[in-house]
Amino acid sequence: MAQALPKSIDETERMLAAADYVADRSLATALYLAFVMQRPLFLEGEAGVGKTEVAKVVASALGRELIRLQCYEGLDIAQAAYEWNYSRQMIEIRLAEAAGATGAAAAAQRERLSSDIYSERFLVKRPLARALEGAAGKVPVLLIDELDRTDEPFEAYLLEVLSEWQISIPEIGTLKAVEPPIVIITSNRTREIHDAVKRRCFYYWVDYPDARRELQIVKRKAPGAAEALSREIVAFVQKLRGMELFKLPGVAETIDWANCLVALNRVTLDPETVNNTLGVLLKYQDDIERIAGEQATRLVAEAKAA
Ligand SMILES: Nc1ncnc2c1ncn2[C@@H]1O[C@H](COP(=O)(O)OP(=O)(O)O)[C@@H](O)[C@H]1O
Ligand SMILES: [Mg+2]
Repeated sequence: MAQALPKSIDETERMLAAADYVADRSLATALYLAFVMQRPLFLEGEAGVGKTEVAKVVASALGRELIRLQCYEGLDIAQAAYEWNYSRQMIEIRLAEAAGATGAAAAAQRERLSSDIYSERFLVKRPLARALEGAAGKVPVLLIDELDRTDEPFEAYLLEVLSEWQISIPEIGTLKAVEPPIVIITSNRTREIHDAVKRRCFYYWVDYPDARRELQIVKRKAPGAAEALSREIVAFVQKLRGMELFKLPGVAETIDWANCLVALNRVTLDPETVNNTLGVLLKYQDDIERIAGEQATRLVAEAKAA
């Protein structure tokens, strides 16, 4: 059942919390404004800080379909918006040929056929086109995930869709949304997204959470972890983020680590277990080498003292 949009920032916050998403007031504000103003929300931030999750949570809390467009290099209109179903068109043509009309009848048939095979029946709608089809009051959530992986021509195309809420298909005309979908765009900032796209959207930088918020997240997402363990995990990870590493651990890694330590029946951190499980937090051998041993022992002591 499609739910109505939240009517205030407070309601937006409650909606996120009810779906186990621990948000800052500022994120709830940006999201609420995106709803009210019918503008896309552009979430930028490091990997694993909870950007994609926002779209999933919004879709499930509002009972809306989540339409996901995962971006990659070389993503084109055929994969993102629509394409013609060539094989079905070919079959249609063959069948018409087999029916084998002659003379004036054949000419009329050819005419009919060419308009027929470019009708919606032969159109394959991809995420962008499908996202424009929602009925008023229950439009879907369109997640355009990791936009920084695509290239600039695609951004230009996207800009058109996001400003007009329509897609023009030369053979049949335009698909236009009755009501704009709820759009959430994410970027891991491996490159800058064009200003024009950002200008269409509300922009929000998703930062690593502070210790207090991260502890709340761990409590919700790794409920099996003992209180002391959760605190130590969060303090350890927060300290780790202050170090010079090739890739800092995100919230996803914190949650993973907490669940791993629970699986190992740990109720508190100890240097040996930390050393043996560093690969859950750090994904580069150089980073692991830097932390394992002496640093890990020191960080464990500091985390316990915190
Ligand atoms: N604020 C948060 N509240 C609850 N869970 C969170 C939060 N931030 C991140 N997570 C969890 O961390 C994991 C990674 O989040 P994800 O949205 O995939 O990150 P990103 O898209 O930024 O790389 C998910 O399992 C998500 O549930
Ligand atoms: Mg993501």
